[in-house]
Amino acid sequence: TQINCEPLKELIRTVPDFPKPGILFYDITTLLKDKTGFAQLIDAFAAYYIGKEIDLVLGIEARGFIFGPALAYRLNAGFVPVRKPGKLPAPVARVNYDLEYGSDALEIHLDAIQPGQRVIIVDDLLATGGTMQATVQLVRQLGGEIAGLGFAIELDFLKGASKLQEYDVFSLLHYDE
Ligand code: PRP
Ligand code: MG
Repeated sequence: TQINCEPLKELIRTVPDFPKPGILFYDITTLLKDKTGFAQLIDAFAAYYIGKEIDLVLGIEARGFIFGPALAYRLNAGFVPVRKPGKLPAPVARVNYDLEYGSDALEIHLDAIQPGQRVIIVDDLLATGGTMQATVQLVRQLGGEIAGLGFAIELDFLKGASKLQEYDVFSLLHYDE
């Protein structure tokens, strides 16, 4: 039961030269505020993951928080936030990862996942794949079983999926440039 998401592209605003010259930014806020579009986005994710016995949906701060919880609700799963450093109050696992310039880190509560729980990780965008790759490491540290990696948008030309080959990568919308 795959839903055709191509029409949703008309609801995504493209912003040239943001955040830097030469970058074309795919802005999903115009999709999110559209009640039909937002429902179709969540429905399409749910259609893909329903029946796959997902225990937890992990969302990556910040934009993975926008639709991760809505999807978790639809899947009767729990939601777990993966956060930027220093935000989570209880003991955490931490992973550092490289960005184009410099590095960043992500954290998850140590007790967020029980070994063997089936999790999916969602984010708005798959670009280089560095953010998702880092999050995958956190889930593995905690012993979670990664049942899928879901993205609203995948920038195919950056080949981020090649970093995530071991996993079931599902992106609703693909862009070639
Ligand atoms: C953006 C986007 C993804 C990530 C994708 O997050 O939301 O999480 O970059 O890039 P990658 O595949 O090359 O790792 P960003 O950290 O810019 O900020 P956010 O807090 O707005 O989500
Ligand atoms: Mg992000």
